[in-house]
Amino acid sequence: MEILNTNQIIENLLYLPIDLPNPPTHELEIFKDISVEKFYRDNFRTCWQVPLYTDHEEKGVYKWSPLGNKAPELKAWIEEHILPMSGGTRMTFICTLPGDKNAPHIDCSLEKFETIQHKFRFVMEGNVDDLVFLGKNDARVRPTNLNNCFMMAGNWPHEMENTHSGKKFTLAIGAPWEPDSTDLNYSKLISRSYDKFKDYYISKENMELVDNWREMFEDYNATPHENIKAYWNSNKVKDI
Ligand SMILES: [Fe+2]
Repeated sequence: MEILNTNQIIENLLYLPIDLPNPPTHELEIFKDISVEKFYRDNFRTCWQVPLYTDHEEKGVYKWSPLGNKAPELKAWIEEHILPMSGGTRMTFICTLPGDKNAPHIDCSLEKFETIQHKFRFVMEGNVDDLVFLGKNDARVRPTNLNNCFMMAGNWPHEMENTHSGKKFTLAIGAPWEPDSTDLNYSKLISRSYDKFKDYYISKENMELVDNWREMFEDYNATPHENIKAYWNSNKVKDI
């Protein structure tokens, strides 16, 4: 097998499980009992989002939300394993009803498309291999169904169809965190993870983009801060 250096692993990364302990999942029961209508509707990714850690008060100042505060053990896990690396950044559960599909999309703007856009994910409940990376000529690449944290390239077109019998919940650590090889701690994490999980690594080196990738960017009519502020000021969260 070709020996890759850490920069190449990061550049070509489509999917790689990462060498962190799994977060606790038992607090998910609390969220499973809340109607999805109470959550934030993401019309772009056609899913619901449970905003856990957001800048809902002041732009760029990230805090635990009333929903995040419902899961103290998960919070402690994030504060130990993620926050020292990521700093203030958006954290949510992506929630998809059984049988529903997250529309094909790209998780960054066109301006950021050529940059490293690694996104942390952990499937709290549901199937990891319901995620599909989309390539030219109907190429569909799925990760292995491994119960482990992973990083994925958010700037590669992807979709998801929830074939699990219940709601799928995925812990998602998103923008504005943009880890890349300039971050020594992140490089070390990727290097260690590749040593452990290289058999599961998916490279985008030999993949070609699906033809209609330019149609898969979000059309922002408000900033994420404005959207999340409006959500927390709306009536539907009053009894959360
Ligand atoms: Fe996505």
